[in-house]
Amino acid sequence: MAITYKSGKQPHPKEHRLIFRNVDREGWNTSIERSLQEGGYEQLKKALKMEPKAITEEVKLSGLRGRGGAGFPTGVKWTFIPPNNTKPVYLICNADESEPGTFKDRYIIHQDPHQLIEGMTISCFAVGAHLAYIYIREEFPEGAQILERAIEEAKAKGFLGKNICGSGFDLEIYVHRGAGAYICGEETGLIESLEGKRPYPRIKPPYFPAALGLYMCPTIVNNVESLCHVKHIIEMGGAEYAKLGTPRNTGTRILCVSGDVVKPGYYEIQVGKVTMREVIEDMCGGLKPGRTLKAIIPGGSSAKVLRADEVFKVKQPDGSIKELTVWDIPMDFDTIAACGSMAGSGGVIIMDDSRSMAWVLNNLNTFYAHESCGQCTPCREGSLWMRKISDRIAGGTASPDDVGLLESVAYQIDGKTICAFGEACSWPTESFIAKFRGELTAATRPENKGRITNPETQVAAAAL
Ligand SMILES: Cc1cc2nc3c(=O)[nH]c(=O)nc-3n(C[C@H](O)[C@H](O)[C@H](O)COP(=O)(O)O)c2cc1C
Ligand code: SF4
Repeated sequence: MAITYKSGKQPHPKEHRLIFRNVDREGWNTSIERSLQEGGYEQLKKALKMEPKAITEEVKLSGLRGRGGAGFPTGVKWTFIPPNNTKPVYLICNADESEPGTFKDRYIIHQDPHQLIEGMTISCFAVGAHLAYIYIREEFPEGAQILERAIEEAKAKGFLGKNICGSGFDLEIYVHRGAGAYICGEETGLIESLEGKRPYPRIKPPYFPAALGLYMCPTIVNNVESLCHVKHIIEMGGAEYAKLGTPRNTGTRILCVSGDVVKPGYYEIQVGKVTMREVIEDMCGGLKPGRTLKAIIPGGSSAKVLRADEVFKVKQPDGSIKELTVWDIPMDFDTIAACGSMAGSGGVIIMDDSRSMAWVLNNLNTFYAHESCGQCTPCREGSLWMRKISDRIAGGTASPDDVGLLESVAYQIDGKTICAFGEACSWPTESFIAKFRGELTAATRPENKGRITNPETQVAAAAL
């Protein structure tokens, strides 16, 4: 059946819709009846006839890498459950979607909840979990209701609960409303929160969730989008799925593009098959009229910033070295990492020449200072110091030495903390200073006092 989308929501020809196939689709709704009309839960029935280990093998073969941030291979993570385990195994769907610039999981939950439930149920069968949670951020109350309704529907049809589809496999899924903090998205903070405590992240090692997770039992934590892909891997087969995208960067992923482009929004692409230029100029309709590109944060707010005029030397699979401008970067995990940043959660933030880097960095540092859980000293104190110093820089009350001071604070955090929030909060400062030191230093001149913190004067301030 030909799929039509709501007015203004047609996918771009360079998109490949797998996970977002039903998002903003004409005639689609969240009911299980609508899902069943288009093959909903057929992959679950197929998976239940397979050996659980064979499902994990298909996911490994598919090359699927986690879409929550770190890009870790999903099937490999599943094999980390200790082989001689005798404790219960849990699966948690991370629906915290807390990384600024990221807005994909909420669309899946709001518009296609049964895709997620089917993907989760297959994944639970594969890893031997009989109890699973969807940890959804506090700020998504409607999403939580939609999921609860979908779980009830799935139970009524025998796709959840006892003896699913007559297979003998039992599974309950519960929706857990989050605690409303960025750190609840970090998997070990999330687990603490789910246990009813403050979301203080746990140190790894030893607390890798696959071995010591929820209630100190093996726990698989996967992102919403990652779990949805499992359904499609079962449908297509791992080898066929791996033909989507590029080697080591397989499948599709949803880019969430925000900032200074004509058409910001979500775009599902084959990983690595589309360049930054195609994202900005073709899919997003280009930069705003009369503007030029200044910087890009390619994978959510904690990813290191890229300057528009940077050129990178990137090693190719055949061993040769290729020069790439920012515009040439294929949107995949490995190339973006080779360019010194990360593909992260898929949140692509575009900044044009109207943006003051002092203002942007201060905006980011204000967020991170607010979100540190406070457990470890470098992060608790350092994130606040970074905010105070970048406040001064953006407000024109800093001294030129403050830029170096800010930089040294960032490097005192990075690598010295319990969880990866330490890197998440210091990478923006480290990269903004490395790439825009001149502009940040110029902002400390007394004549610029008060010019940058006011968004209306940002255009003038950006010319500093
Ligand atoms: C500070 C911080 C915040 C995070 N927030 C999220 C989040 O909101 N959603 C998410 O899926 N992963 C988030 N992650 C990554 C998770 O810890 C974890 O790696 C991920 O849920 C694993 O799923 P995946 O393998 O499917 O990507 C965050 C990590 C850190 C360090
Ligand atoms: S790095 Fe920051 S967020 Fe992570 S545990 Fe330490 S204080 Fe908490």
